[in-house]
Amino acid sequence: MTLHHESRTPEPSTPTPSIRPRRLRTTPAMRNLVRETRLARSQLVLPVFVRDGQDAPRPISSLPGVVQHTLDSLCAEAERAASAGLGGMMLFGVPREEDKDAAGSAGARPDGILNRGLAAVRDAVGDDLVVMADTCLDEFTDHGHCGLLTEDGRVDNDATLEAYVALAVSQADAGAHVVGPSGMMDGQVRAIREGLDAAGHAEVAILAYAAKYASAFYGPFREAVGSSLQGDRRTYQQDPANRREGLREALLDLAEGADLVMVKPAGSYLDVLADVAAASDVPVAAYQVSGEYAMICAAAERGWIDRDAALAESLTCIVRAGADLVLSYAALEVPAVR
Ligand code: PBG
Repeated sequence: MTLHHESRTPEPSTPTPSIRPRRLRTTPAMRNLVRETRLARSQLVLPVFVRDGQDAPRPISSLPGVVQHTLDSLCAEAERAASAGLGGMMLFGVPREEDKDAAGSAGARPDGILNRGLAAVRDAVGDDLVVMADTCLDEFTDHGHCGLLTEDGRVDNDATLEAYVALAVSQADAGAHVVGPSGMMDGQVRAIREGLDAAGHAEVAILAYAAKYASAFYGPFREAVGSSLQGDRRTYQQDPANRREGLREALLDLAEGADLVMVKPAGSYLDVLADVAAASDVPVAAYQVSGEYAMICAAAERGWIDRDAALAESLTCIVRAGADLVLSYAALEVPAVR
């Protein structure tokens, strides 16, 4: 018996495609040649933590491979980063609990842990690496907020600006090439620019955390800095639902004199990053934050994902979306481009 489909007259053959995008995917050499986005170590910045009052580096359980450094191990890491050809390092300080107060005053002291870390790293690497400082109070306040509080417990924008200026100037004094205000106070870039200039630090650049969202992806960072935060940061960090506002924040920071603008987090905010990259006349940074890194590590530990491939893909896509530089805990793991 003849099967039904065999008895039918054959369909006319489908037209042969003359346009074949697959031609450019045939070999690794061809794919390398036509790649639109290339990751270079020189565009990567390694975030690092330096902790006071300990004599050995301490692992951070929620950030595999990342530690709270001593001053010595911090300098060794800076030398590693410089010889690997990284673009820079972003330093965060972790003070002793007893040094925290409501004003976060340990931050701006020359002998505060972050300023000691900046000075030590500059001694170790000079200008071989761009040395950046997190310019924020949350690591140093006993309440964990990024600013000073009013008597009724609200974050006081304008009083905080003065504290940021003192902090930024102290970081420039300690040797930072770049200060990175991350507290999302209105007017922080202008205030810091004026403060730096008045203090004779006209050459120190400002990396503005321009669009910084109130994100659940900062979870592991809070362990990394021993954060004492009560409540949340939703009155100053942005609502993740808002795209237009991200661009607005970046444009304001540009008008205030930012030398670089950053979008943070990166992976879930690529639309905002693309908007900012299209509008910015200065280089654009993105921060692949602690939770983004930790999720990849955790899935890889379970064998669910290929760690190196996922990290490389994530970083490549952040650059594809428009970042000129990327802060990443995986910065030292990215293979050098040939
Ligand atoms: C605040 C600051 C935070 C991060 C960088 N700077 C935490 C926060 O806003 O709560 C998060 C970075 C990360 O998650 O990797 N100074």
